[in-house]
Amino acid sequence: MEKRPTGEEIAGAGAYEELHVPALFQEWTARVLEAADVRAGHRVLDVACGTGVLSRSAAERVGNSGEVTGIDPNPGMLAVARRLSSGIRWKEGVAEDLPAEDASFERVVSQFGMMFFTDRGAAVEEMLRVLVPEGRLAVAVWDSLANTPAYAQAVDLLDRMAGPDAAYALRAPFVMGDRAALEQLLRDAGAHDVEGATHLGRARFPSLRAMVEADLRGWLPVMGVNLEEDLILAILSEAEKELAEYVVSNGRVEFASPAHIVSGRKVGGLLATG
Ligand SMILES: C[S@@+](CC[C@H](N)C(=O)[O-])C[C@H]1O[C@@H](n2cnc3c(N)ncnc32)[C@H](O)[C@@H]1O
Repeated sequence: MEKRPTGEEIAGAGAYEELHVPALFQEWTARVLEAADVRAGHRVLDVACGTGVLSRSAAERVGNSGEVTGIDPNPGMLAVARRLSSGIRWKEGVAEDLPAEDASFERVVSQFGMMFFTDRGAAVEEMLRVLVPEGRLAVAVWDSLANTPAYAQAVDLLDRMAGPDAAYALRAPFVMGDRAALEQLLRDAGAHDVEGATHLGRARFPSLRAMVEADLRGWLPVMGVNLEEDLILAILSEAEKELAEYVVSNGRVEFASPAHIVSGRKVGGLLATG
């Protein structure tokens, strides 16, 4: 039975959808679906779907003859996903033990979730298990923190003002910056024709305050870190000074946020062992 989300989980996921998704995640969906070659009529699985931004783009692509399933362990994320789209199947579950039949999807996609998997190799094996022979998968992860200076500075700020747990929550998304290692992970799990590319994404927030609030009120609670309101206000005020270089015009904030997309193919039948 699925867990009932707490009020805090729903609020965190709601803030994530409102603040983070348009600024950081939306721009990647087309690239990930392209890398997986998602087409009309496909059955698509979105692993670590969060509030469902990639699933919703996939649903548009596959049309009425296709079908999209989103899987995530966070009940708050799924509650928001369900509220936004009823035409997609939303399921609670983890990547390492997907609640899906063998060979039941033509495509498996996953964006910006793999950094949080406890066993990434097992997760890719699971993605291959649920793919049909000749099915394709594509996974997106952020480039390293060193290549994302705005977040490197934000992590440093959080470390000083809110401590290591808060800093870890913000650093965690950037731990898979080594693209060759991700490509090897897919090969080791049994994927064929593995290909990777690094794309120069661009984060776009309406203001510096919106960027930092997205982390403090949207992302940290998803990672189990809830800061006191006084501390949130103090961090926001300090961020206005320390991150000012990322303000472009009219108070808007833009900065480089590169990511890797790696794809592979499942080889079926006798070929799989060859
Ligand atoms: C940064 S969010 C990305 C969500 C979504 N893919 C998007 O683009 O907005 C990371 C997601 O990974 C999920 N997650 C964490 N551990 C997971 C696991 N072991 N299996 C599947 N999903 C996981 C979280 O619940 C969260 O929704």
